[in-house]
Amino acid sequence: MCGIVGYIGEQQAAPILMEGLHRLEYRGYDSAGIALATGGELKVFKSKGKVRDLERLLPDHPKGTPGIAHTRWATHGEPSDRNAHPHCDARNRYAIVHNGIVENAGALRAQLEAKGVVFRSETDSEVLAHLIAAMDAETLIEAVRGALRLVVGTYGLAVLDSKRPDTIVVARNGSPVILGIGEHEMFVASDVSALVRHTQNVVHLDDGDVAVVRADGYETFTLDGGPIVRAPLMIDWQVESLSKGSFDHFMRKEIAEQPEAIRRVLSGRLESRFSTTHIGGLEFAARELLEARRIKILGCGSAYIAGCVGAQLIEQLARLPAHAEPASEFRYRNPVIEPDTLYIAVSQSGETFDTLSAVQEVKRKGARVFGIVNVVGSTIARECGRGIYLHAGPEVAVVSTKTFTSTAIAFALFAIYLGRLRDLSAANGARLLTALAALPAQVEAILAQEQKIATLARAFANTRDAYFVGRAAGFPVAMEGALKLKEVSYIHAEAYPASELKHGPLALIAPETPTVIVLPRDELFAKNTSTIEEIRARRGPTYVVTHPGTLPVTVDGVIEVPKSEPELDPILLNIPLQLLAYHVALARGTDIDQPRNLAKSVTVE
Ligand code: F6R
Repeated sequence: MCGIVGYIGEQQAAPILMEGLHRLEYRGYDSAGIALATGGELKVFKSKGKVRDLERLLPDHPKGTPGIAHTRWATHGEPSDRNAHPHCDARNRYAIVHNGIVENAGALRAQLEAKGVVFRSETDSEVLAHLIAAMDAETLIEAVRGALRLVVGTYGLAVLDSKRPDTIVVARNGSPVILGIGEHEMFVASDVSALVRHTQNVVHLDDGDVAVVRADGYETFTLDGGPIVRAPLMIDWQVESLSKGSFDHFMRKEIAEQPEAIRRVLSGRLESRFSTTHIGGLEFAARELLEARRIKILGCGSAYIAGCVGAQLIEQLARLPAHAEPASEFRYRNPVIEPDTLYIAVSQSGETFDTLSAVQEVKRKGARVFGIVNVVGSTIARECGRGIYLHAGPEVAVVSTKTFTSTAIAFALFAIYLGRLRDLSAANGARLLTALAALPAQVEAILAQEQKIATLARAFANTRDAYFVGRAAGFPVAMEGALKLKEVSYIHAEAYPASELKHGPLALIAPETPTVIVLPRDELFAKNTSTIEEIRARRGPTYVVTHPGTLPVTVDGVIEVPKSEPELDPILLNIPLQLLAYHVALARGTDIDQPRNLAKSVTVE
């Protein structure tokens, strides 16, 4: 998705902006650009392609400060040099970078063209530069405010005025804008990862905020009204966690970080005295939780699938009906929202637009919602106001790995807590706390099998289609395994409930289509081995992820994971499928950390 960086201070802006753009590369983009204010003029460089393509365009030691820069992910207009941001007005006085969508761009463009404005791009964003120029206002903030009053849509916006280089004006509506506070210098970004090298003291703007940023500080205002206080917040991300270290890919690094990430999500949350868990950020009175008759979980992609694992945990441990639904679907179907349903929004980034909109819809209709979020201070975390932070550290690879695992564990913590308020026995609570504490070492044991999984991955390298099947608790694991494989290897991968196979998908089984079967040793083991027989009878290759022990069927490959308690088994069964997807992608030579067409946090509809 699009990214914004801005700098104002005594240093030359270009090196800081370019470094910031590199930090945003992980989000996915198709073009990049930079605008620098120098000697009362703007210098603008932009290019289709990667940030390193933009670097080639820049002169040695480009001069200018302040500056703004952007990575673009095309929505209106193809990826091209001229559609890349920044965009300028006709006189090249103002430069803007914009994340989001100007929904009434067509009408605004027609009005501007009728007044003689000649557009240089096909983007919706360019109208902003011309509108700001047309305002003829005393101050930059007034020009920006005036323009934004005409705009319908979403924006994270940064604006530079070459005639008034003591200020950058930023605004937010539906797309994140964060300020970074330095020593006599200020930074602007759409994502904290572009700031952490310079400062950990940040300010999150809210929707409807406009800010004037100067080298010595910032002032925040509402779009239409007066000043508003937005206090700084210290973030705990370390700059080292944004580098690959000794790993070739962030995805591989983040898979390896899982034991540590699990320790962090569990830290301080296991309360053995009462065989329960303690979740400080939840802030619900026990009575409020006991009033809930149903749980509804909302998220997108892997966050939704982690929600499916969560729904099963809640049903098993708290015996409350629980159901996960893609937030992207929920928000469009005028959902029935009942006051005795408790909603949980799941989002690693805390910025996914569909999930945010679902949360706003739930709140608007008066229901209670909490978040399971990784990025502290992110929009969904703030919109929910309470919840569980994962503390998994930054996830840089576009595909989720460690945060999927941490989210599933956060659900286990919540399910135990809720269960112990209801009728989960102390003995069962204690059994699960012991199992949770054992997970980091068990994940380490799975990671130690990497070589074996890499060998098995070779069997998938030339495959066109692959299937993943599982029953009950195994089905979300199959879904996540298929999603990971398709995202990073571009192999068509489908997940089916194992029990549904003979109702249709069995027609697709053939010698060239491998199936991965999630095969926990649970009460469904015999049923699942029958499924394997059915696939083998159609000469389909079979690979199983299972627990140690003898298999009653012959298969083409086996990965064993340590046994946990049955409720927590899905968490461990998923780990080898991450490594499988990674090694298949490695064998196929794809862009593992930035798969084509995908973005890290999807901040548009
Ligand atoms: C899959 C993946 C995506 C995200 C989804 C939601 O590997 O990364 O499916 O899970 O876009 O993102 P968040 O969790 O940031 O809301």
